[in-house]
Amino acid sequence: MKVTIVGAGAVGASCAEYIAIKDFASEVVIVDIKENFAEGKAMDLMQTATLNGFDTKITGSTNDYSKTANSDVAVITSGIPRKPGMTREELIGINAGIVQTVAKSILEHSPNVIFIVVSNPMDTMTYLTHKALGLPKNRIIGMGGALDSARFKYRLAEALDCPASDVDGMVIGGHSDTGMIPLTRLAVRNSVPVTKFLSEERLQEVAEATKVGGATLTKMLGTSAWYAPGAAVSSLVQSIVCNQKKMFPCSAMLEGEYNLNDICIGVPCIIGKNGIEEIVSIDLSEAESDKLQNSAEAVRKTNGLLEEVLS
Ligand code: LAC
Repeated sequence: MKVTIVGAGAVGASCAEYIAIKDFASEVVIVDIKENFAEGKAMDLMQTATLNGFDTKITGSTNDYSKTANSDVAVITSGIPRKPGMTREELIGINAGIVQTVAKSILEHSPNVIFIVVSNPMDTMTYLTHKALGLPKNRIIGMGGALDSARFKYRLAEALDCPASDVDGMVIGGHSDTGMIPLTRLAVRNSVPVTKFLSEERLQEVAEATKVGGATLTKMLGTSAWYAPGAAVSSLVQSIVCNQKKMFPCSAMLEGEYNLNDICIGVPCIIGKNGIEEIVSIDLSEAESDKLQNSAEAVRKTNGLLEEVLS
């Protein structure tokens, strides 16, 4: 199976590294516009093959999409990341044009590819990819919920003072500081609801820390994070390439699910060889439903800017 990653920045390179270390894909091609940058990252990673024990072949290309031909999965990380104090939404002006061009170039050489969109504002970039390519909705997946849920589990484990592997939980809604909805009601520690161990107030703190997870790291690092985003993408890629049919919250094009239409936003999805195999409808409480509708309103507002920034 062949995977293309567009953008050899920190997220793209981390993603390539995790895919290689897990050794489930035969080939990874990294593409970047900066001369020799993707080639350099690919060479550096290939020199870890004997040390880390993988057979995945990693190559780089400076903007030559013919090298990506017949990819099974393509990950779009291109564009600029946010700087401290910026929201993801503020990146739309620069990233929309880049994402649209990249998506079309990939599809030209890989007619059956499944897309994973990572560039921010991610829900709007996923929506744009749908509108630009007109592919069946299962073939375009927005990566946000997998990352946000990993951050939620990290914060839950911190509050519970337990290993993260002991907890499970999910974040739905938009991939933004205000739009994320950590489902505290459904989170568990080894099948026991976390509400049994944590006060409502402590759970609120966990939810708030989760929502600003990306912003917190951007402030600390001076640019946006890469390890957890790269790992989240690689988990989605693995679920597709190995047809694992794992459930992740992903930004999916909705056609009536959760009472939403013509919008991409994070909801639980089964991810397998066809991309989104199924959008899972879970029963939300009234408060959670209201939050999802509000989150969707904010995403729609950002989607509304597309026409202006692309013209
Ligand atoms: C983050 C970026 C990838 O949340 O959106 O770190």
